Amino acid sequence: MNSASSKLPQHVAIIMDGNGRWAKKRLLPRYAGHQAGTDSVRQVVQACSEQGIQALTLFAFSSENWRRPEREVGMLMELFLNALQREANRLHKNNVQLLVIGERTAFPTKLQDKIQHVEALTAHNTGLKLRIAANYGGRWDIVQACQTLAEQVQCGQLEVDAITQERLSQQLNLAEVPEPDLFIRTGGEQRISNFLLWQLAYTELYFTDVLWPDFGRDAFQQALTDFTSRQRRFGRTGEQVEQQKTC
Ligand code: IPE
Ligand code: IPE
Ligand code: MG
Repeated sequence: MNSASSKLPQHVAIIMDGNGRWAKKRLLPRYAGHQAGTDSVRQVVQACSEQGIQALTLFAFSSENWRRPEREVGMLMELFLNALQREANRLHKNNVQLLVIGERTAFPTKLQDKIQHVEALTAHNTGLKLRIAANYGGRWDIVQACQTLAEQVQCGQLEVDAITQERLSQQLNLAEVPEPDLFIRTGGEQRISNFLLWQLAYTELYFTDVLWPDFGRDAFQQALTDFTSRQRRFGRTGEQVEQQKTC
């Protein structure tokens, strides 16, 4: 591994925002923006695979997105189903392991079945760990982890004092991958929108005005380059970090 690639993030998390505005600018229905966004997904997944990035988490549908017009929600479900159908073999061929995180029981059965099918197909792949957050909310994630721990306490398997940050992390979705090193949000908004609340504690944040359907390989590369120029201090001083590098 050369020095440039060793500085690459191990895990990138992205809020893919701006599809609606992309479509509006072109006088197209919002759906067209979501559809165009699937192309950006393909490009970013491929770029991560090629560069040996360990994990990529994409926010596809938040627990708050149910508040959108029924028609748009329905179309997003359909688009998700079609994308899984279309991309399953390519993902598998590229050794990508796909998992969907979020409360999936709220989805139409056909979509749930498809998700399960693609997860099973790619379960043993050893390349990029691709996580799609769908009907996901950071607060939901923390609450479901607390519930699991509370059940363990209730049946005597766990002492209250044994509840540590590590133990709670283990019950969260994404426990099997390192916490994101780089967070990207496209579309110009600078907020987390209930994405990975716990896991983003020390993540480098990168916001860009580029709308998601315009976010291709080059824009992704730019975000990676920006990341490599950051100094991550984790509470230490800049001098300490520099010193550690030379040791
Ligand atoms: C992100 O794009 C996709 C989803 C939330 C599903 P938006 O649909 O939020 O696009 P804007 O923010 O309205 O432009
Ligand atoms: C966040 O985008 C969710 C996804 C990209 C899936 P939104 O467009 O829903 O976020 P807000 O409502 O502007 O914060
Ligand atoms: Mg939006």
